[in-house]
Amino acid sequence: MMKARGVLWILLGLLLWPEPGTASSLPLVMDSIIQALAELEQKVLMTEANRTASAWILSANNSSPHNSLHQHLLRKALSHNATEPQHSLSPELQALISEVAQHSVKDGQEYGVVLAPDGSTVAVKPLLIGLEAGLQGHSVTSLPSDCLATPCDAGDTLTNIGAIWSRLTEAFTNASSTDAGANLPNDKAKTPTTVDRLLAVILAGDLGLAFLHGSQTQSPPGLGTEGCWNQLSAPRVFTLLDPKASRLTMAFLNGALDGALLGDHLSQVSRPRPPLSHLLREYYGAGVAGEPRFRSNFRRQNGAALTSAAALAQQVWKALVLLQRLEPGQPQLQNMSQEALAQVATLATKEFTETFLGCPAILPRCRWGAAPYRGNPKPLKLPLGFLYVHHTYVPAPPCTTFQSCAADMRSMQHFHQDVRHWDDIGYSFVVGSDGYVYEGRGWHWVGAHTRGHNSRGFGVAFVGNYTGSLPSDAALNTVRDVLPSCAIRAGHLQADYKLLGHRQLVHTDCPGDALFTLLSTWPHFTEAENQ
Ligand SMILES: *[C@@H]1O[C@H](CO)[C@@H](O)[C@H](O)[C@H]1NC(C)=O
Ligand SMILES: *[C@@H]1O[C@H](CO)[C@@H](O)[C@H](O)[C@H]1NC(C)=O
Ligand SMILES: *[C@@H]1O[C@H](CO)[C@@H](O)[C@H](O)[C@H]1NC(C)=O
Ligand SMILES: *[C@@H]1O[C@H](CO)[C@@H](O)[C@H](O)[C@H]1NC(C)=O
Ligand SMILES: *[C@@H]1O[C@H](CO)[C@@H](O)[C@H](O)[C@H]1NC(C)=O
Ligand SMILES: *[C@@H]1O[C@H](CO)[C@@H](O)[C@H](O)[C@H]1NC(C)=O
Repeated sequence: MMKARGVLWILLGLLLWPEPGTASSLPLVMDSIIQALAELEQKVLMTEANRTASAWILSANNSSPHNSLHQHLLRKALSHNATEPQHSLSPELQALISEVAQHSVKDGQEYGVVLAPDGSTVAVKPLLIGLEAGLQGHSVTSLPSDCLATPCDAGDTLTNIGAIWSRLTEAFTNASSTDAGANLPNDKAKTPTTVDRLLAVILAGDLGLAFLHGSQTQSPPGLGTEGCWNQLSAPRVFTLLDPKASRLTMAFLNGALDGALLGDHLSQVSRPRPPLSHLLREYYGAGVAGEPRFRSNFRRQNGAALTSAAALAQQVWKALVLLQRLEPGQPQLQNMSQEALAQVATLATKEFTETFLGCPAILPRCRWGAAPYRGNPKPLKLPLGFLYVHHTYVPAPPCTTFQSCAADMRSMQHFHQDVRHWDDIGYSFVVGSDGYVYEGRGWHWVGAHTRGHNSRGFGVAFVGNYTGSLPSDAALNTVRDVLPSCAIRAGHLQADYKLLGHRQLVHTDCPGDALFTLLSTWPHFTEAENQ
């Protein structure tokens, strides 16, 4: 543990001690972060083992509310003064690490993010803070769960916390049970655990603050905004698709969730703990400890299992109450009642669980290297009333990695544009067996998937030939539940939408006998003559 912490500390120290004059030219990819960790773990003597990564980050800038929250919750890490670590990395890696240390969004670009092998983009800072919080498991868990205010002295203002909390959970329960969005376990009696406190450090404060800044009835603009890399082979610049994006971009949410999942894991594994480079390599590769579900591809599913929405809402609320006491001068928090903060926490958690955890992970067109649309796309009139299910047939094997799914997307687009002479890949969305959905024509443009019906419904295809076998459970679950409920919530699909197989409307075997037989048992499945 000391070893891991020492490495992390040095790594984060490096973030803050950029070598003057060294500009990184390394691609902004997760492998570089893992390589930096591995180099440190190999070379570095753990003389500074007591000093932790977060100590450095937190003591570097105490002026913002996030920092005072981290400082408080990870206070053990701050009992030392940060000193300049020994420079043990190659100048290139060091420059790269300094470059990705701080997460920010400026002028439509996002900084501090890297491309992961699964095709997702991940903010490095919340990931490292999550690892740090996990390594410090004990100091974090020792906080009294029902009175985070203790170190903030007074104590009297939190007396009605129970009453507010029960109204908060009730409101949340009501909201989520009537909404098709997230079906998270709602365990309101659960005592907050280590996991929830990890979330408080990594996510809850940021989540609460983002919603404080906006109106109190709406999500801040650009929550979970995706972006595009200037190039995929050697990514350097990340431009957001929504220039009004809040700081809680998709990459931030990915990094925070990865940090929470890995931090939770680290706080539970027996010692000696695995080297961090090893852990990250598994997590962004084939799966931690050979468990293929415990990897970045399935972070949302794992995140939903990590904590209940009610427990997260409580953490967000506590984080806000705590911030209010730590930062009495913050105008946004000034004069807000605990009840008002509870409402912010409820909304923030609802948005996070429904629009992030409860939605499929969709990789935008630029991520798979789509060629431009040819001609002028025709807009759909939303919400649509139909979802048409396809299999791609060719490619016949299911794609199980980002590399192969992205290559399949490019080859299908090439076939549709250059052989069929369509404007673009025909499908609205394509579902891989790698845990991701790939954006085709998307939510807003008429596709070319179901002749005669393209303006009426979305065409969703599973990559593979499902004549004699079925797609993975994760892919099936995405199309049966997650994608439609997310689309209904966003106003893209009617709540009483009808689900049909391609063969019900066009003379074809698509989506394959095996898949069609299963499809006909799903909710919303409709006989063709009924529509
Ligand atoms: C590191 O921790 C050990 C015991 O936990 C303590 O004796 C030692 O003084 C600490 N070193 C520094 C530099 O604080
Ligand atoms: C500290 O943070 C504030 C606001 O986030 C920023 O304006 C300031 O430049 C930072 N100071 C240092 C020394 O990093
Ligand atoms: C940290 O640094 C400050 C100022 O440089 C010093 O006054 C303080 O004693 C130091 N604390 C520790 C624990 O070394
Ligand atoms: C939640 O629903 C119950 C029953 O439908 C209702 O009595 C209660 O007032 C609702 N609570 C809130 C906070 O909306
Ligand atoms: C909070 O209340 C005090 C006293 O009423 C007032 O002076 C201050 O401006 C208020 N702050 C905000 C941000 O509304
Ligand atoms: C699709 O699967 C069926 C049944 O397994 C098989 O007969 C057919 O040859 C496959 N088609 C392709 C293109 O792989």
